[in-house]
Amino acid sequence: MSARSPDQDRTAPTDAVRREPFGTTAEGREVERFTLASTSGITITVLSFGGAIQSIMAPDRRGMLADVTLGYDTLAEYERDKSYLGALVGRCANRIRAGRFSLDGRDYTLARNAGGNHLHGGKRGFNKAVWNVEPFEERGDVGLVLEHVSPDGDEGYPGTLRVRVSYRLTANAELQIDFHATTDAATPVNLTQHAYFNLAGTGSGDILGHELELSASRFTPVDETLIPTGELRSVRGTPFDFSTSEAIGARIESDDEQLRLAGGYDHNFVVDRNGTGELALAARLTEPVSGRGIDIHTTEPGMQFYTGNFLDGTVAGKGGIPHRYRSGLALETQHFPNSPNEPSFPSTILRPGAEHRSRTVYHFVTRG
Ligand code: BGC
Repeated sequence: MSARSPDQDRTAPTDAVRREPFGTTAEGREVERFTLASTSGITITVLSFGGAIQSIMAPDRRGMLADVTLGYDTLAEYERDKSYLGALVGRCANRIRAGRFSLDGRDYTLARNAGGNHLHGGKRGFNKAVWNVEPFEERGDVGLVLEHVSPDGDEGYPGTLRVRVSYRLTANAELQIDFHATTDAATPVNLTQHAYFNLAGTGSGDILGHELELSASRFTPVDETLIPTGELRSVRGTPFDFSTSEAIGARIESDDEQLRLAGGYDHNFVVDRNGTGELALAARLTEPVSGRGIDIHTTEPGMQFYTGNFLDGTVAGKGGIPHRYRSGLALETQHFPNSPNEPSFPSTILRPGAEHRSRTVYHFVTRG
């Protein structure tokens, strides 16, 4: 097994990283699956297709393992997927109004794939790319470096973008995700990981009993096409206030215009932080029956909280079990949706010579 990695102090992978074929895409590209096993008891499988996290085995408070993320058993299902299950998302996560933006006096038109808007990088976003993947093991951590080159004009975006993502699983039950990108022409970049969690175990029911705490005093309300209006609105006194831990289902059906527009939670929260660019605790998720939890730290300014409102049971996942309405939730660390059209939002523009860097850490814990 070859170990090619950007950092020099990495050593060759051992049997804590397993590499195996996962099939061939419709276009004839070979896809592999990697299994990262850590001494913490967490085991994660990742596909070179979309860089997708296919499964996460995590112990409950009694040590019982369950797979806590939604996914599929076969490559063909990942090729058909429209829900971005577990995938790396880019060039820009979430929506860009009408697939249009202007940059340095030029107008750009992107692929429109969501009711006239651009969503998650377009018709063939990074979630449908076959990434170049190399495993590594370093000081007790196991991980993968994934690389993808998005050509100039890809889904309408300017410039050749070189993207590198690393997944590092630590002995402390943390999955650290690092995003890196460079470009040869100015372009918006907004990368995220689109895992759907169900901490009771995928296929076991809905996520309404999960408890969530968000470090977010404000969120970005949306219009009827789910594009932020540009306002940063206080969560206080609304069903969007997760400043103390609340069951996700407690207020999801309340009479609230924003919940009605999105059919539940599908909103970007503004992460509270002291200073910019530092890792900050953004979310704490707990499933009270099993005691499984995830703490999410990020350097990103936003977090899209999505309650699986578009999952409708028509598509089956692992073990043939349908992905039913609200059977998984996503907490996607990112810049705000539609940033290229909102000068008041933190900028997503990457220029030649600069580096895009961001980090998100999922810490798998048990509570109670
Ligand atoms: C978006 C949803 C979308 C889902 C799957 C989420 O990130 O916020 O609106 O339906 O991804 O595409």
